Amino acid sequence: MDLSLKDKVVVVTGGASGIGEAIVRSFAAEGASVVIVARRAEQAVALVGELTAHGQRVECVAVELTDTPACRAAIETVVSRHGRLDVLVNNAAANDAVNLAGSVDEFRASLEKNLVQVFAMTHFAAPHLVKSKGAIVNIGSKVADTGQGGTSGYAASKGALNALTREWAINLIEPGVRVNTVVPAEVMTPLYQRWFENTADPDASRRAVEQIIPLERRMTTGAEVADMVVFLASPRSSHTTGQIIYVDGGYVHLDRACTVDSLKAVLRPKTQPKKSNQ
Ligand SMILES: NC(=O)c1ccc[n+]([C@@H]2O[C@H](COP(=O)([O-])OP(=O)(O)OC[C@H]3O[C@@H](n4cnc5c(N)ncnc54)[C@H](O)[C@@H]3O)[C@@H](O)[C@H]2O)c1
Repeated sequence: MDLSLKDKVVVVTGGASGIGEAIVRSFAAEGASVVIVARRAEQAVALVGELTAHGQRVECVAVELTDTPACRAAIETVVSRHGRLDVLVNNAAANDAVNLAGSVDEFRASLEKNLVQVFAMTHFAAPHLVKSKGAIVNIGSKVADTGQGGTSGYAASKGALNALTREWAINLIEPGVRVNTVVPAEVMTPLYQRWFENTADPDASRRAVEQIIPLERRMTTGAEVADMVVFLASPRSSHTTGQIIYVDGGYVHLDRACTVDSLKAVLRPKTQPKKSNQ
């Protein structure tokens, strides 16, 4: 399928690692011009070098996204270099474990890191997206639906992101800018791998997580999230807006009683129903 993304100018926040890196790779493979907006430019150097060596167009602008003037400058830099902006992917966030026992200041700081920066980037990008009739794709989290029990700031931010998907879709409906959100649940990234490695038994921890993912009992790959993102950013999804789309192997919505082996075993009927003679 030709996604018609060739020469489109795409900004991916947090594109130097994890899911963001996979998104950058997918857009670059489609022939888009990709700008990584991330706090650690050195993290992006190897990625930019690798992709440009293959003739793909990727660059990095180093920005700490909680610095609002820097967000404005990043968008201005992209538009002055490329003359346009077609797609904004709001991917950067950090599940920072600011829980109910944390201070109000910590909660507020978490909202700055996970929510306010998304508003800032979208606010500065919107006039350019209106001109190009572009698209916004946000990366949400299952935590907005399921909670996690120790991460108030992140949960509030991701819940707000779902609400803003609808709000901004309406806000930008007249100029034809589409706004959608892709929601992952358990995605294998270097950061997640390091988290497993800090548990008492990393292999057992990974298997335990995999067991509760209904489809194929495995974690989602970054590339699977990225494929949905590029589709939603492309004109091939031209009548899709205001949608929250789960790329999670059925994690959030499918009934655990039917999908988790240990529950299925306990909940099975005492006697097997008799087979019909027919
Ligand atoms: N990995 C998962 O299982 C998972 C699950 C659900 C949702 N998500 C979401 O996917 C997105 C990407 O997560 P990931 O797992 O790839 O994380 P990651 O930490 O590997 O990558 C996030 C990137 O964003 C950058 N970043 C974060 N805050 C920033 C800031 N304030 N300024 C500049 N750069 C900043 C980081 O430096 C990093 O490069 C996030 O929105 C996250 O909430 C991930």
